[in-house]
Parts: sequence; C-alpha cells; structure tokens
Amino acid sequence: MDKLSVGLLGFGTVGTGVVHLLTNEQEKFRQQTGTQILINKILVKDPDKIRKIDQYNQLLTTEPSDIVDNPEIDIVIEVMGGIEESRKHIHTALKNKKHVITANKDLMALHGSELLQAAANQGCDLYYEASVGGGIPILRGLTDGLAADRIKKLIGIVNGTTNYILSKMSHHSVSYEEVLQEAQSLGFAESDPSSDVEGLDAARKMVILSHLAYSIPVTLDDVVVEGITHVAEEDILYSKKLGYTIKLVGIAELDNGEIDVRVAPTLLPTNHPLASVDNEYNAIYVYGHSVGETMFYGPGAGELPTAIAVVSDLISVAKNMKHGINGQHIFLPQNEKKLKPADS
Ligand code: NAP
Ligand code: HSE
Repeated sequence: MDKLSVGLLGFGTVGTGVVHLLTNEQEKFRQQTGTQILINKILVKDPDKIRKIDQYNQLLTTEPSDIVDNPEIDIVIEVMGGIEESRKHIHTALKNKKHVITANKDLMALHGSELLQAAANQGCDLYYEASVGGGIPILRGLTDGLAADRIKKLIGIVNGTTNYILSKMSHHSVSYEEVLQEAQSLGFAESDPSSDVEGLDAARKMVILSHLAYSIPVTLDDVVVEGITHVAEEDILYSKKLGYTIKLVGIAELDNGEIDVRVAPTLLPTNHPLASVDNEYNAIYVYGHSVGETMFYGPGAGELPTAIAVVSDLISVAKNMKHGINGQHIFLPQNEKKLKPADS
C-alpha cells in the first residue's frame, strides 16, 4: 500500500485546512504512515467560487457519487456539515468499504451510534475527533488516555463562537452583534450561528462526550439547554465586578448512578481554571475517580486546529490499514441508559 486516495466532501473552512495540511505536510505524513496520501476529488456546492487554495480546482465535483462510489477512493473525509445528506453519503461510503472521517458533531450527536454500528459491520474505520474541541484530542483523551478511570464529572467550554463572544464582550466594549459577525468571518461559527448562540452546538458536543465518558447512549432530548442569547452586556459587567466570569458551559455528571447533562451560561469565580479560557479556545475539565482533576485545553474551532484533528484521524486510518485492524477501535455504548430526566 504505497498510496492512499482520499475524497473530501466539503472545501470550506475545515476542508481548506485539511487540503493545506495534506499539501504542505505530505513528507511528514509519508514518514508516519509509510504511504503517500493523495487527494482524488473534492465535493463542493459551487465549483465557480474563488477558493483560498486554487491548485486543486480540477478535482472539484458537485456529484457526491464521484467520491462515495468511486472505487479509486479509500478514505472519505466529510467536512460539508448538515445532517441528512452527509448521513446518506457516509452510509454509502461505508457500504462501499471506505473508511470515513468526519468533523460533523450535529450528525454524530444524532446518528453516531447508527453510523458507528454500520462502520463496525463493514470492518471500516469511522473517526470523529474534530467533532468536539477542534484541535484538542479530547475524544482520544477519554477513550484511550483515561480509559481505565471512572469519570465522575465533565465540565466543558465546548463552543468556540460563544466563548469568543462572551470573552470579547467582557474584555472590550463591543456589542454582541459586532462580535458574532467577527466570529463568523473568522470561520468559528456554524453556517447557521443560532446553533452556537442557543447552546445546541455545545449540547451536541456534550452528547458525544457523555457517550464516550459514561458509555451510555445519550440523546439530545436528555440535555437541558440554554444558550447565551439572554446574556446582556450588564450581566457580564456586574458579574465581573462581583468576581465572576460568565461562560457557556456543558456539564455531565454521575450522580447516584444517574447521568445529568446540561448546557447553560454559568457564573464561574474568576480564579476557576475555566474562567481564564478566552476567545475561541475550548477546555474540558474532567474529574476522574482515580486520576482526580485533569483539564484538556486548546483552540476549539477554526481552519487549521480543526484540520489537525481531521488529518490526525486520517493518519490513524492509514496506520490501521497498514496493520489490517480497521474498525477495531469503534466504541459503542455498553451501559444501560440511566439519565436524570431533562426536566428534573
Ligand atoms: P463551511 O465553511 O460552511 O464549508 C462547507 C463546505 O461543504 C463548502 O465547501 C461547501 O461548498 C460544501 N457543501 C456544503 N453543503 C454541500 C452540499 N449539499 N453539496 C456539496 N457541497 C456542499 O463549513 P466548515 O466550517 O468547514 O464546517 C464543516 C464541518 O465541520 C461542519 O460539520 C462543522 O460543524 C464542522 N466543524 C467546523 C469547525 C470550524 O471551526 N469551522 C470546527 C469543528 C467542526 P461551497 O464551498 O461550494 O459552498
Ligand atoms: N461552531 C463551532 C464552535 C465550531 O464555535 O465551537 C467548532 O465545533
């Protein structure tokens, strides 16, 4: 296996970062995997759009089957977003025995178990590290690094856009609208930023994290969600005067054998480790029964940090292919669901 062929679904913020890394770090990846990783096709909506990287224009297609049904392609990278279309493309790719990497937390939070089961049935890899925490390897942290521990509590700043908005509003005198626009132009916000500001994006990430931390099939309906749309400038200023910082945090905790998952703007004392996580940075505080306190911190959104997570998954797939162990890492919930009702 001296060459691997990759098809990308999407060439926006994250897709551009992935293409940048595959172009500029080719030699490093070849040394790590013993294989040359080549881009075969890239799915876009508008092939005439001016692209930040234009040397692959001849590889652009608007026809998904050029990728998911293409026998030349070994690995499909889904960075187009949305739910139903990407779900369909991933199923087709898996049916055609292609390994899949996705950054799509909306999809994984809703249909993760179904897709992971489909991948396992086909002996294919399905990695999704970029779906939570951008460049922070939190999924591997939970499934590998802390695999031996019993997780008691997770507290996460897992949405870069809202953290960017709240920290800019707290440190500078800028309006909510102005700073949301900035987050959009920097590529942190979702195409529909209401999922960021209303807390849904964070809730989806908490679903993924709780599934991995507690090995239970959590759904979005199990999560109590409140976003930042009701946080006023005065709330931020008064909390600051009282020694607190407002952050949108997701909490998942084990309480009397039941898991409680929620997302809400929360007052943190300014000396709390999560209070100093600013801008688009994310941090996930994990409290394990034996390890005690740990904190995973880093850029939670944006072109290159997210692309690093995607391409690191790609390197894992290439290594698995080399050793013939694809599909073996797949982690499906093992425990019965014991969640506190969302309205309790
Ligand atoms: P984006 O900038 O909006 O890019 C989406 C890309 O997919 C574009 O190239 C678009 O084509 C293409 N596309 C979308 N719908 C399509 C369709 N129906 N058919 C063909 N092509 C289609 O999105 P992004 O920010 O890169 O995010 C991609 C995924 O990564 C999302 O699931 C997002 O939640 C996730 N994610 C993003 C970040 C981040 O910081 N941005 C971080 C972590 C995870 P055109 O270019 O022609 O419009
Ligand atoms: N819109 C998301 C955020 C992108 O702001 O965190 C990263 O998942």
